[in-house]
Amino acid sequence: MPVIAVIGAQWGDEGKGKVVDLLAQEASLVVRFSGGDNAGHTVVNPCGKFGLHLVPSGIFSPHTVCIIGNGVVINPSVLIGEMDQLDRCGVATTRLFISDRANLIMPYHILLDGLEEESRGEKALGTTRKGIGPAFADKVARLGIRAGDLLDKDMLLERLRSVLDYKNTILTKVYGVSPLSLDEVYSQYCQYGERLGPHIRETVIMLEEALNRDELVLLEGAQGALLDPDFGTYPYTTSSSPLAGGGCLGAGLGPTRINRVVGVFKSYCTRVGSGPMPTELKDETGDLIRERAHEYGTTTGRPRRCGWFDAVVARFSNQINGFTGAAITRLDILDVFPRLKICVGYKLDGRTIDYFPANVAAVERCQPVYEEVAGWQTPTSHIREYEQLPLEARQYIARLEELISCPANLISVGQAREQTIHKTPIL
Ligand code: GDP
Ligand code: IMO
Ligand code: MG
Repeated sequence: MPVIAVIGAQWGDEGKGKVVDLLAQEASLVVRFSGGDNAGHTVVNPCGKFGLHLVPSGIFSPHTVCIIGNGVVINPSVLIGEMDQLDRCGVATTRLFISDRANLIMPYHILLDGLEEESRGEKALGTTRKGIGPAFADKVARLGIRAGDLLDKDMLLERLRSVLDYKNTILTKVYGVSPLSLDEVYSQYCQYGERLGPHIRETVIMLEEALNRDELVLLEGAQGALLDPDFGTYPYTTSSSPLAGGGCLGAGLGPTRINRVVGVFKSYCTRVGSGPMPTELKDETGDLIRERAHEYGTTTGRPRRCGWFDAVVARFSNQINGFTGAAITRLDILDVFPRLKICVGYKLDGRTIDYFPANVAAVERCQPVYEEVAGWQTPTSHIREYEQLPLEARQYIARLEELISCPANLISVGQAREQTIHKTPIL
C-alpha cells in the first residue's frame, strides 16, 4: 500500500503540481491535504495548461480519484469556478470528492484577511488575501463552518447565525465596515451546497479502502516547509502545515502509512510575500532568473523574489519532513549562467552557522556563505536521460543531493509532463 507524499521543500511554488500530475498517472487516489486557494499549482500536460488552486493535480489522470482533504480550507465559489473550467476543457470532475470535515472559507474570512493586512501597515505579511489565516483561526477556535454543514440547511442556518453575529460585531465595531447579511450569506451557501453536495463525502473511508486494496495513493502538499506556522519564518508563514506530518492530519491517515516523502525543490529559491529569504538577489541576476523562469505568482500575479539555492533551508526542510527523495525542478532555468552559487551556511552576527534560526529577526541578519560551481551554459530542456545532462549539471545535482542528504528521484527540465528525467526510482 504505497503512499507517497509530495511536499514543497522551500517557500512554495517548487513545482508540486507538475510532480503530482506526473505521478498521478499511476495512482488511484490523490489527496490535497493543506492550505486553500492561496495555492496555485501549474500543470502542463496533453490536456492543456492549468493553474489549479483547490482541485488536486491528479485530476487529469482519467482513472484517478481526487480528494480535497479535511486539512484544506475551501472557498466554494473558487472551487465551483475551477470545476466548471475543467469540465469545459473536457476534464471530468465526477471523480472529485470533498471531505465533509473540510472547513469553508466564508465571506468574512476574506474581508478580515484584507482588513488585518491593512492594519499591519508596513508589517503586512503579504498574504494572498484569500481568507486563509482567518479561516484556519476559526477552525481551531471552533467557529468554523464545514463542508458537511452544507448538507443540512437547518444546521447551516443555526451555525451561521451565531458565528455571523460575532463576526459582524468585529467588522462593525473594530474595523468600522458594514455588516454582512445573514440572508444573503445563507442563501449563497445553500446554492453552493446544492452544487457541491454530490461531491461531499466521508473521504477517510475512501482513503482506507484504497490503502486496503494496495493501490498507490499520493498526498499533494501545498505551500512549502518554510511557510509552516511552526518551523517557517514565523509570523511570515501561512496558517496550516505544509509538512509531511501535515499530510497525515490533513488527509486522515497515520504516519506509519506513508512510505515515501518526496521533497520538491527548485534548483534555486523563490519566495512570494513578505519575510526573510537569505539568498534573495536584488540585482540583475535575480531579475534574470525571474524573467527566464517567469516567476510571477499563479494565484496573485505578484513577482516572486528570486535567489540562489539555499542548502541550509534544504537541510532543515529534510530534517522536519524526512525526505526519502527529492524532485529537483527548473534545472533548465540555470542553463545560461557561467557560474552558480549554492548557500552552504550563514554568517550571523560575526559567527558562521549551519542551521536555520527560529527567530525571524535573526534570519533577517543572516548573510549567505556561498560556494561557487561551474555552470553548463547549454540547453537542457530537451534531455530525458540523466547521463545526457552536461557534466556540470550532473555535478550540480550531485552537490544538491549531498547537501539535502537524499537522492534525487526526478529532475525537471521544463513545464511539460514529459520534460522530466527519472534519475532514481521513488519506490
Ligand atoms: P507549485 O505551487 O509547487 O505547484 O508550483 P507553481 O505551479 O506555483 O510554480 C512552478 C512553476 O514552474 C510553474 O509555472 C510550472 O509550470 C513551472 N515548472 C515546473 N517545473 C519546471 C521546470 O523544470 N522548468 C521550467 N521552466 N518550469 C517548470
Ligand atoms: P503553493 O501551493 C507560495 C505565502 C503568501 C504569503 C504567506 C501567507 O502554490 O506553493 P496566506 O494567504 O497563506 O495567509 O499567505 O504564504 N503563500 C504562498 N507562497 N506558494 C504558495 O502555495 C503559497 N501559499 C501561501 O504569499 O507570503
Ligand atoms: Mg504555486
